[in-house]
Amino acid sequence: MLKTLPATLLFCFAALLPAQSSAARFDMGTKEFRLDGGNVTYVFGVNPRGELQQMYWGARLADSDKLSPAQPMREVASFDPPYSTTPQEYVGWGAGLYVEPALKITFADGNRDLVLHYDSHTDKPGGLDVVLKDISRPIYVTLHYAIDPETGILARSATIESRESAPVTIEQAAAAAWALPRGQYTLNYLTGRWGGEYNLTQEPLQHGARVIESRRGSTGHQANPWFAVQSVTQPGAADEDHGEVWFGALGWSGSWRIVVEQDQLDAVRVTGGFNPFDFGYVLKPGEKLDTPIFYGGYSAHGLGGASRLLHSFENHNILPRTAKTAGQPLPKPRPVIYNSWEATEYNVTETGQSALAEKAAALGIDRFVMDDGWFGQRKVDNAGLGDWYVNKEKFPNGLKPLIDKVHSLHMDFGLWVEPEMVNPNSDLYRAHPDWVLNFPNRPRSEARNQLVLNLARTDVRDYVLGFLDKLLNENDIAFLKWDYNRNWSEPGWDQLPPAEQKKVYVAFTQNLYGILAELRKRHPNVEIESCSGGGGRVDLGILRYTDEVWPSDNTDPFDRLTIQDGFSYAYTPQIMMAWVTASPHWLNKRTTSLAYRMLSSMQGSLGIGDNIAKWSDQDLAVAKRLIAAYHEVQPTIVQGDLYRLISPRNGSEFSATQTVNHDKTQSVVFAFIHSTQEGRGFPILKLKGLDPQAQYTVTPIEGKASHNAPATASGAFWMNHGLDMDDNFRGDFQAAAFRLDRK
Ligand code: GLA
Repeated sequence: MLKTLPATLLFCFAALLPAQSSAARFDMGTKEFRLDGGNVTYVFGVNPRGELQQMYWGARLADSDKLSPAQPMREVASFDPPYSTTPQEYVGWGAGLYVEPALKITFADGNRDLVLHYDSHTDKPGGLDVVLKDISRPIYVTLHYAIDPETGILARSATIESRESAPVTIEQAAAAAWALPRGQYTLNYLTGRWGGEYNLTQEPLQHGARVIESRRGSTGHQANPWFAVQSVTQPGAADEDHGEVWFGALGWSGSWRIVVEQDQLDAVRVTGGFNPFDFGYVLKPGEKLDTPIFYGGYSAHGLGGASRLLHSFENHNILPRTAKTAGQPLPKPRPVIYNSWEATEYNVTETGQSALAEKAAALGIDRFVMDDGWFGQRKVDNAGLGDWYVNKEKFPNGLKPLIDKVHSLHMDFGLWVEPEMVNPNSDLYRAHPDWVLNFPNRPRSEARNQLVLNLARTDVRDYVLGFLDKLLNENDIAFLKWDYNRNWSEPGWDQLPPAEQKKVYVAFTQNLYGILAELRKRHPNVEIESCSGGGGRVDLGILRYTDEVWPSDNTDPFDRLTIQDGFSYAYTPQIMMAWVTASPHWLNKRTTSLAYRMLSSMQGSLGIGDNIAKWSDQDLAVAKRLIAAYHEVQPTIVQGDLYRLISPRNGSEFSATQTVNHDKTQSVVFAFIHSTQEGRGFPILKLKGLDPQAQYTVTPIEGKASHNAPATASGAFWMNHGLDMDDNFRGDFQAAAFRLDRK
């Protein structure tokens, strides 16, 4: 670690950097740190007051470009102290700070003033660590920076260390704050509810603060820790394909908060990390707290460009890879699954599941997943959670006969678990009523007849890890659907002294990650899905340990178009599981054709979740054909570049998406009609991202192109003239899909 800044110190890792490279360097003369990666440059520096100040975040600058040294804002008025208006990288609540602090601490002697100045830094491959220290107290904050050479996405987090002689309480700790220059912006963020996740909300950024958060102990359906801020300073500049976009996503599956604020001088900052609501983390002398990672990126190509960068980053840098694909750059596309939930609910039996497995195998399914109901005294949702032994009435000989049957049908086997929960009506709760989150002598609020185990406790953590490890040791299980069906209430942890109990907000999630990491280590072939009553726990934290997610319990194929559209702003289709279920649909009572349902689900990672024992031969034939077609193009759909051609949002009559694989040899197009009105035909789809010079042949997967459309034409033709649908492509809930293959 460098305690001073020797004049000889000039990190300059490359004089001329190729486009796909990264570097971090420090310029002694200007006291400026610079990170370059992808098409992005990020610059911050030490200003004359000693504060670490953001200087530039945007499109990549030339290597030779120099910024003028960091200068704090001047005092515009006595009400605008520079401490508050200067865009600091990580500002302590102290001096006169009126915007969101990154860090707020109460000291044992009552002091609450914290002013962080540059102390030292160290470089590391692909990034650097910068240490800040309070101006008089031994509070050290190490800011971690890394930049991805491909996408230019930055990963920022902080480690807070106290060397005080008495404990201090951290009341607020962000992972990072991002700053944008004065300007006019549109804010995009994702909100939702159970059965209606991932609604894209777009609004002009105004003076004041917009708070996006979860106070629920987990990520939540109601808001997702992602944002995108799009510049509208130049009229007409911003849309799906154009305009500057700064975006970010927080990697934390506990209570979180992102505050997007535009100050009175029009500058914007986005601060995110642990939710400070009910937060209080006691640091004893010498202890440290690591914050989550806040990822941030920049695109000059609109929201579409931003999501393509995020998808690529997630696929290459966040998602775990299985042993099967170890050493390969990308995780393997998800197996096409069958899931029993909507077919049988809790009524799972060896014979019933075996019959479904036979049908599933005949369709070309890769993985058979048995959902809720197989364990303890689980008949409905009021009993059994916590008792992870096989129910002998339903499976007299254990799970082995069913698993063997599934294997004999050339599928692998997956199983549903909900490890962090307990029904009061369970042997586990009767033995350990103290294991749940609770305040002694206060009510324990149930939801879905269940309580939340306090995973922060070592004994609970060991129990959960122990039963999962045993389950995986004793059974040939390839996949766990890991569910989490309620949020916290009464979040007490009475094993600890009162002042320390709020550590539960950090320790619970850390233990969750620890269990997932340990399970993956012990069972490297096992894959895991993050489910929380649908999409209630999807974020870049849990995605480090899980291979896929369940975006919503709402499987209505029309509703799913909007949910999937919203999901795609933040997350790659690789992880987006999508099942085909019954029509009429249980939630909306909407009737749709099987082909429409299949194509809606084929936009992500396909599954079937209906009672296929009841399907007609014709349905089975349609599904079999489309599963086979999907298998052929799946890598393009889930790992290619996604273009949202027509959004299904806001009651759109039509919607369409397109994906192009990375070497531009294949593209897949999906088109959906909600309800034809006034006889309008489907708009000609001007495709994107193809090689203009190459020839592409269009082949229908479902539906037809216009009889006038050529079968083969150049990329330029498909992008400029466009793909024209069959004139008969009309009606309610109609769908078509095409593949384009380079000749
Ligand atoms: C949650 C999940 C469903 C299903 C049920 C089982 O609601 O989201 O997919 O697994 O639990 O109880």
